[in-house]
Amino acid sequence: MDFEAARARLIEHLSTEIKDERVLAAMARIPRELFVPEGSRHAAYEDRPLHIGFDQTISQPFIIALMTQALELKGNEKVLEVGTGSGYQAAILAELARLVITVERLPPLAEVAEKVLDSLGYENIKVGLAEEVLGWQCEAPYDAIMVTAGAPRVPVDLLAQLAIGGRMVIPVGSRYIQELCRITKRKGKNIVENLGGCRFVSLIGGRLGRGISNNYRGIRLLNGNRKGVKMEVLEAIKTRRSIRKYKATPVDDRTLELVLEAARWAPSWANSQCWRFVVVRDPGIKAELVNMAGDDNPASDAIRNAPIVIVACAELGKAGYKGGEQMSDLGDWYMFDVALAMQNLVLAAHALGLGTVHVGLHFDSKRVARILGIPEGFRAVEMTPLGYPDQEPKARPRKELSELVFYDKFGLR
Ligand SMILES: Cc1cc2nc3c(=O)[nH]c(=O)nc-3n(C[C@H](O)[C@H](O)[C@H](O)COP(=O)(O)O)c2cc1C
Repeated sequence: MDFEAARARLIEHLSTEIKDERVLAAMARIPRELFVPEGSRHAAYEDRPLHIGFDQTISQPFIIALMTQALELKGNEKVLEVGTGSGYQAAILAELARLVITVERLPPLAEVAEKVLDSLGYENIKVGLAEEVLGWQCEAPYDAIMVTAGAPRVPVDLLAQLAIGGRMVIPVGSRYIQELCRITKRKGKNIVENLGGCRFVSLIGGRLGRGISNNYRGIRLLNGNRKGVKMEVLEAIKTRRSIRKYKATPVDDRTLELVLEAARWAPSWANSQCWRFVVVRDPGIKAELVNMAGDDNPASDAIRNAPIVIVACAELGKAGYKGGEQMSDLGDWYMFDVALAMQNLVLAAHALGLGTVHVGLHFDSKRVARILGIPEGFRAVEMTPLGYPDQEPKARPRKELSELVFYDKFGLR
């Protein structure tokens, strides 16, 4: 695999959102493939997190770049990183600051990271094993602190190790979802800013129960339109349009999760939840899906260009059944249940400023099963691209209610 070319493509992709040239240049110099397990090297330059063992991950490059950018390093700083993990983030920080102290809780990870960093010749990185108190007190204060694990609050112990005027970037929130916070330490009230959603493994140790909470000031939202989070249901229903042109802007993991959550909460036959969703990001697989839909499908470019395609599948013999027996004369209700889930997904996506379009034309469920490796007993039902819209289509007309609705008996208006 040509890692250099893959790295260049990743940097190009990051540069649409990350504006700090020094951060991009640092990431362009560092061989990320050396920081991931051998089996995942082919994916080292995909913009997604990867497992590195011990239930830990190396973060998505975009989040790494965003967090690093938020530290606003100029070159002369002493930086503390909490959570060495693979060591990749430490390498980036070392390219941008004078000295990096990085602390890891898991000895095997610290050992591997130290070896890789040594092999790359970094002399301004010290790897330490985490102690009872969070951070690394003996070298404090730090001009910048980066925390690469989620915490319920900003830990007081870490804040105490930050110099006045220094910046700390930390994911704050629940175990599953956090907001990326930047805290600028002031003599008076600290400045707390929200940089957007993210998902990290949990920070362990120290006095996590205490600390300042994330009551943000100066909120900056990622990926544009998040005003829609509060969009009314009826407004979302009425303003949603099928979107067939997409920007290349990636969809961050947190937003994707919100969209999938909406599908998860759809009603289903006896709560049987027959649906499954395959999130496709791989351009090769997307190309196969485009081939199937055919160039005469108005949505074919959308499938090709949107950063994500979601394929909805169903487990057969669940919806409409009880004890293996069909409960109505309509057979398997999987189309119905998947449609409910997908429409929840589509509306949530719209409320978050994303576009979708249900794609059914030329949908060949057997072919999709082969492309995606869908097992027997499941069927692919439909797919939708998911991404930021690059068009504002007009509403297509709808039949009048008087034509659609009858009262008491079919045909009675
Ligand atoms: C089950 C289903 C299948 C669809 N398949 C396609 C498709 O294959 N390609 C496409 O461009 N649009 C497809 N659409 C989108 C419809 O054309 C679109 O919803 C309709 O024209 C109304 O426009 P609107 O969604 O902008 O309100 C599909 C919609 C549904 C509900």
